[in-house]
Amino acid sequence: MAQMTERMKELFNKVPAAILSTATRDGVPNAVPVGAKKIIDDETILISDQFLNKTLENMKVNPNVAVTWWEGHEGYQLKGTVTIETTGKLYEATARWIEDLGARAGFPLKSKGAVIVHIDAIYGVSPGPGAGKQLA
Ligand SMILES: Cc1cc2nc3c(=O)[nH]c(=O)nc-3n(C[C@H](O)[C@H](O)[C@H](O)COP(=O)(O)O)c2cc1C
Repeated sequence: MAQMTERMKELFNKVPAAILSTATRDGVPNAVPVGAKKIIDDETILISDQFLNKTLENMKVNPNVAVTWWEGHEGYQLKGTVTIETTGKLYEATARWIEDLGARAGFPLKSKGAVIVHIDAIYGVSPGPGAGKQLA
């Protein structure tokens, strides 16, 4: 497991969306924006699935994902493995959060599942000498 720093977490919370990248069993890539994201702890994030299709199919057969977020020229990429919860406390809390989010935005939203990303490694993606280097 790898741990996010305060700065990585601050930026993750600040950006409106991150990019969730998955791949089929055969390695065909798929990258989509996700805004319904939360930090659970230094080693774990949660993404709510409302509209994921290819991404969900990919994660079912290949749990390896990358999540990338940035602002300006500062950015980070985590690599991790997912578990998907569609019942239980964490899912129910996620479902309530997404329902509230939809109500506030003025259109109904429903979470189909909570994608829990267990962070295995973190890399910098900022341009410059440290580009792509593993940070945690
Ligand atoms: C800014 C933005 C944020 C989004 N956030 C989410 C999200 O948090 N959860 C979700 O399920 N879909 C979200 N979506 C929608 C998915 O990215 C979109 O449905 C995507 O087409 C899923 O494609 P897939 O078939 O590759 O999984 C968001 C889209 C945009 C443009």
